[in-house]
Amino acid sequence: MTPLEAAARLTELRDAVRAHDARYYEDAAPTVSDAAYDRLFRRLKAIEEAFPELITPDSPTQKVSGALSARFAKVRHSLPMLSLDNAFHAEDVTEFLARVRRWLALPDDAPVPVVAEPKIDGLSASLRYEHGKLVLGATRGDGVEGEGITPNLRTIADVPQTLSGDCPAILEVRGEVYMSHSDFLALNERQTAEGRPLFANPRNAAAGSLRQLDPAVTAGRPLRFFAYSIGEVSAPLAATQSGLLAAFKTLGFPVNPLARRCETLADILGFYQELYQSRATLDYDIDGIVYKVDRRDWQDRLGMVSRAPRWAIAHKFPAEQAVTTLKAITIQVGRTGALTPVAELEPITVGGVVVARATLHNEDEITRKDVRPGDTVVIQRAGDVIPQIVSVLTEHRPADSAPYVFPETCPACGSLAVREVGAAARRCTGGLICPAQAVERLRHFVSRDAFDIEGLGARQIAAFFADGLIHSPADIFRLKARQDSGAIDLFTRDGWGRQSVNNLFAAIDARREIPLARFLYALGIRQVGQATAKLLAKTYGSLAAWLDRMQDAAPEAGAAWEELLSIDGIGPAVAHDLVAFVAEPHNRQIIADLARSITITPWIAAPATATNPFNGKTVVFTGTLTRMGRPEAKACAEALGAKVASSVSRKTDFVIAGEAAGSKLKEAASLGVQVLSEDEWLQILALLI
Ligand code: IVH
Repeated sequence: MTPLEAAARLTELRDAVRAHDARYYEDAAPTVSDAAYDRLFRRLKAIEEAFPELITPDSPTQKVSGALSARFAKVRHSLPMLSLDNAFHAEDVTEFLARVRRWLALPDDAPVPVVAEPKIDGLSASLRYEHGKLVLGATRGDGVEGEGITPNLRTIADVPQTLSGDCPAILEVRGEVYMSHSDFLALNERQTAEGRPLFANPRNAAAGSLRQLDPAVTAGRPLRFFAYSIGEVSAPLAATQSGLLAAFKTLGFPVNPLARRCETLADILGFYQELYQSRATLDYDIDGIVYKVDRRDWQDRLGMVSRAPRWAIAHKFPAEQAVTTLKAITIQVGRTGALTPVAELEPITVGGVVVARATLHNEDEITRKDVRPGDTVVIQRAGDVIPQIVSVLTEHRPADSAPYVFPETCPACGSLAVREVGAAARRCTGGLICPAQAVERLRHFVSRDAFDIEGLGARQIAAFFADGLIHSPADIFRLKARQDSGAIDLFTRDGWGRQSVNNLFAAIDARREIPLARFLYALGIRQVGQATAKLLAKTYGSLAAWLDRMQDAAPEAGAAWEELLSIDGIGPAVAHDLVAFVAEPHNRQIIADLARSITITPWIAAPATATNPFNGKTVVFTGTLTRMGRPEAKACAEALGAKVASSVSRKTDFVIAGEAAGSKLKEAASLGVQVLSEDEWLQILALLI
């Protein structure tokens, strides 16, 4: 089997197993015997073992099916996952070292080497390896019991599936799952583009991403891992914490590169200052430094008290806050019309970063905090990234100050902005006439996961829109023709030279052909993210078919509507937004206009395998099958991509004849249709499944 064949075969097998899972778990009406299901599953596993690079996180082999996956299984930690005591001042650290010496009966001036490690602001996880293979992954939970999230943890590239080199037969590695600042910002951009709620900080984003019921969602999130401690081990890994970190590295785990062995209190406090100053330059959040007694024999003697080790302490950084003036509250209008209030601040440095704006989230948040323009406010970098307003220093409030009144009209187009019952955001009702929404839609259109046009970023789009060069997406593809005909002159634009304009034209030309899924995502339909766009492309195949079916589904009833709802992953709310989008004549016009300027390539299904003679063929069963029931035979044929018909015609490709086959067998003979005996059918099946 070539890798290409294997890939195609895996797709078929996974779809078949998923379909059987759904029938078994959701409908409680399996159509194959357990043995047949097991065969399918074993075949899937066997091919995945032969081609491990083709294993996908959403493969049925990677997750617990159906009923079990609906909720995380509880996992009892073989050794509890501990928490840490906190130190806030240098004296607390001095006292920590004194306590250690007292406990170990060491002289007051005895050196106590510690390893100082950044305290990563993520969530801890435990990874159990047996004979070098990852067998179980769990969250910390209450420290005694956590949640089993093995498939999710497997999707993290930093987490090795197998360990390199010698390792104890049983080894539990513990560490922190986190998200980097840059990945966090990109994820939130994606959330915005998809009309989904934003994550408040990288920690929440990491936690939310890891604790997904569907590991495929976790796989799409950029999570990382640092190893820093151990749970159960069948043989000691190292005699010191520093040795442990080195061993983790050898085994293939990322360990934090800033960890440092410190000999004295002065070393420790020096390191603390150093990291405190430079933390803003790191691409991930740390909220302090953990000091761990280096010698593990000492750690064992020190033991723990109320779930925290006596041999470690977390020296926390003070929360980064600053006081500044709120100059004004401005309103941003999003792609789907949501009005978001933003605090415009007197610029100030917080934790090494200049902050000039802070989010105010929504109308209720402003009311709750009674934030007013002119106020003196305390701001904080929550999770070190998005600045927030913590509180208002009302004693500094100007005498003429009045509560802020949230606008009831859109600041960009003047249309009414309404708040639906239960919604957090007020939305502009201007729709297509609102320039702010139009610009946001165009920005989305050219964004990385959509048309991805290099050189045409948010800033350029806004400028081109303001100058009337680009109004609708198709205008982008007309720029060059208009330049050539002299209708416009980009070469003389501010900030653009001949070279950069030509680069832009080349970048646009490179996108004149686009796969359907990307195209559908680029349209910026509410609630339609990349995953949904892909499902639509896969289901409808071509743009024309999709448009037709969406229009047929407009009454939100009937066959086309049912077909849309039958797509696993599309519910009534998304379906409604899809149908409403296409029902809008202006949207159809934009699409038609685009379709004239570019090529939208249809969805390409995985190639059929040469070795599977049933794929795409029509099969008829007749007579009595002795070793497999009819429903199972039918399911097997369907799993191989065949259509099972009940009568023989010219369109029939195979007739599979059991005992006492009658008229259909004759029919097949007269039409020259290939006939297989039950034995032959089972033999081919055994090869394929
Ligand atoms: S050691 C004894 N090391 O902090 C082992 N924890 O407040 C206890 N954390 O639940 C953990 N970075 O989630 C350790 N380098 C580090 C850490 C770290 C972050 C987190 C971890 C733990 C929490 C305790």
